[in-house]
Amino acid sequence: MKMTDRLRKLFNEQINKEYYSAYLYLALSNWLNQNDLPGAANWMYVQYREEIVHAEGFIRYLMMRGEEVELAPIEEAGGDWADALEVFEAALAHEEFITDSIDKMAAAAEEDGDRAARIFLDWYILEQIEEEVNGNDNVMFWKRAGDHPGAVLSLDRQYAAREFEADEIPYLDV
Ligand SMILES: [Fe+2]
Ligand SMILES: [Fe+2]
Repeated sequence: MKMTDRLRKLFNEQINKEYYSAYLYLALSNWLNQNDLPGAANWMYVQYREEIVHAEGFIRYLMMRGEEVELAPIEEAGGDWADALEVFEAALAHEEFITDSIDKMAAAAEEDGDRAARIFLDWYILEQIEEEVNGNDNVMFWKRAGDHPGAVLSLDRQYAAREFEADEIPYLDV
């Protein structure tokens, strides 16, 4: 079964949004590195790598379905963040935007009767729960650390421990 035009378009747009997510996390990581928070920068860098895998998951899915993949230009990622709290708030706001985008894809897959696409999206729907939990926790941690140098240092050290592990998205390794 071919995908509907609008669903294929939504999948292609989501590939671009996931690459933009990667780009944004890279920009946030760079800001943290330049502002003496190498641990938090590491956390964001791991997330950057994760977002590339999210994009690859959608690319692979379109290929499995025999649909065309479009690689549109990625928007510039940058911003003027005042402190680490603002950096992590930007990440959370972006994840909320991505959750909304994936929910709309699932609604379209349901309306178009594309059960395979709808089931495939379950992985991403559940992943967004994790992303928002992480995002909310991060904002809470930085709010608590406030301007206390000792708390900021110990928080930054905790973020240094995050290691990259590729997500197991359906079909990615087929
Ligand atoms: Fe993502
Ligand atoms: Fe994740």
